[in-house]
Amino acid sequence: MIIDSNAPIGVFDSGIGGLTVAREIMRNLPSEKIVYFGDTARLPYGSKSKDTIIRYSRQIVRFLQSRGVKAIVVACNTASALALDTLEKEIDIPIIGVVKPGARVAAQATESKRVGVIATEATIRSGLYTKLIQEIDPEISVIGKPCPLFVPLVEEGWRKDPITEMIARRYLEVLQEQDIDTLILGCTHYPLLRKLIGDIMGDKVRLVNPAYETSMVLKNLLADQHMENQGGIKEEFPYRFYVSDAAEKFKEFANSILPYDVERTKQINLEEYQEL
Ligand code: DGL
Repeated sequence: MIIDSNAPIGVFDSGIGGLTVAREIMRNLPSEKIVYFGDTARLPYGSKSKDTIIRYSRQIVRFLQSRGVKAIVVACNTASALALDTLEKEIDIPIIGVVKPGARVAAQATESKRVGVIATEATIRSGLYTKLIQEIDPEISVIGKPCPLFVPLVEEGWRKDPITEMIARRYLEVLQEQDIDTLILGCTHYPLLRKLIGDIMGDKVRLVNPAYETSMVLKNLLADQHMENQGGIKEEFPYRFYVSDAAEKFKEFANSILPYDVERTKQINLEEYQEL
């Protein structure tokens, strides 16, 4: 198959959280175009079953392929943990998730061999962070803690609210007792609470942001496979945003966190993009 290196990168998430990954790609791969899809009609994924997440992710991959993307980044930790394995076997363009890059960096960073992971219920239940970290070093203990309330708090815009701090302290208490030296922010929304989480966990705990690590893996992958965009960005809209619902709300949130002015967000009907 001939891949057009000037084609955009497809990035998808259950909603707005994956913009933290898109943001890292914009910062670290400024010559790449992006087609972003946020499944705002069907989020959260973090409380759904594996079968449902696979079905939703397949439709999104099909949509992104219809937009001619050259590679896909599964920005959602939950979809990376539960659907990436399946998707990889079904498509012939490169596809990467956020879990593996985060797990690898955490395994390299820990000295005490005690790593914490905070994520959605589904990601923690999948055990994938633990599996990948222990494949690198079986002596590392991985302590997982679901923090489901972080997602709606971030979406409500309460990143610096005392309520969020109270909830964060309650969630993180068990990890503070575990003597970890590394903590993976294993959900798209959590990098937006980085300062708060860092203040609570203290200087001795290194925070790993899988969004950043994923952009680095993408950069290497494009270089290795000679797929980097050589033509530069000439389009008026190099970043395109699609959602399954609530386009205006998405746009507002996007403009609050991206280093780019999002002028347009288009709502599409995913039902038209059934199974692969
Ligand atoms: N994007 C999801 C993740 O990173 C969080 C939001 C959701 O549950 O859909 O796991």
